[in-house]
Amino acid sequence: MSAPRASYQVRVAEVISETDDACSLVLAVPADLAGVFSYRPGQFLTVRIPHDRDGSVARCYSLSSSPHTGDRPTITVKRMTGGHASNWIADQVAAGSVLEILPPAGTFSPHSLDGDFLLFAGGSGITPVMSILKSALAQGQGRIALVYANRDEHSVIFGPELLRLQAAAGDRLVVVHWLDSLQGAPTPTGIAALTAPYAGYDAFICGPDPYMAVVRQALSELSVPAAQVHVERFLSLAENPFEATEETGGVPATIEVTLDGQTRLLPWPPGTRMLDVLIDEGLDPPFSCRQGICGACACQLTGGEVEMVHNEVLEAEDVADGYILACQAVPLTPTVAITYS
Ligand code: FES
Repeated sequence: MSAPRASYQVRVAEVISETDDACSLVLAVPADLAGVFSYRPGQFLTVRIPHDRDGSVARCYSLSSSPHTGDRPTITVKRMTGGHASNWIADQVAAGSVLEILPPAGTFSPHSLDGDFLLFAGGSGITPVMSILKSALAQGQGRIALVYANRDEHSVIFGPELLRLQAAAGDRLVVVHWLDSLQGAPTPTGIAALTAPYAGYDAFICGPDPYMAVVRQALSELSVPAAQVHVERFLSLAENPFEATEETGGVPATIEVTLDGQTRLLPWPPGTRMLDVLIDEGLDPPFSCRQGICGACACQLTGGEVEMVHNEVLEAEDVADGYILACQAVPLTPTVAITYS
């Protein structure tokens, strides 16, 4: 069995209605958990949602607050039609409610806040983008352009806050709204025309898949290098990290690990995830979500074969280059070798 992740009970200090179907939950993180819940702009929290049939389900919600403005950690949730978790939050959570939450995770975050940023958000994809925008304004010196697509003006989350930020930031911040009701669905040509002046900026994109595909196409038409484009998908978890799960798959194996310049040979029991083997042996490999969605645990396979139970982050080219997710890898051959570079 794989043990459930360490989770924390956190009180909701305030619920802010953002639009007819979106609300922000301001969290009162106790002082003794401030370190556990320190986060980078663009990261998410995983929330345990009660469920009649399954006991609970886990959902990831991006932090919309900035860790650099003195505001309390806040997640913003949009009610989805038929969505159990978002409707439970919208209907059941109030000031004083206590949520069970995992610490912040995710890699959709700038390495430095000092650059120029071209931010794209579609609908509730504004949530992590807002965190990056406020952080870059507060900590950085660069310019920021935001292209924010919505169905219509009633769907715009953070409209008044964006106006306030623009007024305070002057020409450091440009906000361009794209409303389907007025302009039709976004097109690569339309987005490329809007963003051509900012093609040298670092791009961050979050929204529904069709919107992200259009934006990526637009950036490719503008010859923006792939290394300058960062994408956040709406996250879905393969397993419930709040519940113990049955481990399956794999063969008994031995793993040779090269980490921090040292090589170790370790037994790898079948069905155990590679990351758990390394941690249990006292090594200190990098990881964050342990769910196959952030990429923090990526390492390179230099011998043998593994299977990844869940992978939402590595592209086919990454896998062809030998990259694997340690948190999702089980052994397929009796010997496996990996390296962290
Ligand atoms: Fe996030 Fe492995 S720790 S993908």
